Amino acid sequence: MLFNPALADFVHTHSASLDYLAVIPDRSWVDHGPAASPRFDDLPESVRLFEQTALRVPLVMHSIGMSICSADIFDAAYVDQLARWRGLYQCAWASDHLSFSRSGAGHESNAAMALPSPYDRELLDLLIPRVDAVQQRLGCPFLLENNVYYFTYPDQEMTEAEFLNELTARTGCSLLLDLHNVHTNALNHGFDPIEFLGSLDLSRVLEVHVAGGSAMMGFHTDSHTGPAPDAVWDLLRFVAPRAPALRGVTFEFHESSWPLLRTAGVLGQLDRARSIAAQPLHSSIWP
Ligand SMILES: [Fe+2]
Repeated sequence: MLFNPALADFVHTHSASLDYLAVIPDRSWVDHGPAASPRFDDLPESVRLFEQTALRVPLVMHSIGMSICSADIFDAAYVDQLARWRGLYQCAWASDHLSFSRSGAGHESNAAMALPSPYDRELLDLLIPRVDAVQQRLGCPFLLENNVYYFTYPDQEMTEAEFLNELTARTGCSLLLDLHNVHTNALNHGFDPIEFLGSLDLSRVLEVHVAGGSAMMGFHTDSHTGPAPDAVWDLLRFVAPRAPALRGVTFEFHESSWPLLRTAGVLGQLDRARSIAAQPLHSSIWP
């Protein structure tokens, strides 16, 4: 499960139901920007919450601020901050998004959302040394998450699967395979998600995300509202037996959906993930 503020009581009372908890480290600090000194200020309440949670359940790290596909920004100081945070909680792995949100080093803009990047060799050449640097600095498995995209770049050199396969093969990084993102892209762009998954090197998948979404203005959106739809569980049924390195299935939802899900709904999603993944994931995650 991915932690959100609505789950503060849940993780306290139901930690035994969790094999691990994915957390967004960026929610435990304020980033004053690359030019500031000190740049990062901890948020004491958030730090306390993560410290208390880490006593009950192992944490893995899912950051949102790397913007690793930005053409003109690679933020080594941000990666240092992630490494510090990972060390505090001994996270078994760390992940971020294969996308960009930041642009314009020096006079930076932030889109505040994960924008898609073109699948071409120029981006691959940009990413490979960056991924290598992140892996070395973090000192744990590093995963990149396939993005949801509401538009496609024209005349891309590679398919998404070709790009992900080559990126993971050349860097040794792992894939955080978000199956709701696959489902959303398949609905919006009219392709067969199973065919897409069949063309992906699933041996690189270390973690899977499952989530719900909603329709808006003719699009299916990755809104993380409510339970994951049956179609996403069907994709997990395809992936799980073909992904030998899979160590966790993470349910994501936005805190605004807590009144819809509540404790029983969240536990139901975790049970469904476990039943499809076939065996208790705990034993494979924590030796
Ligand atoms: Fe996700």
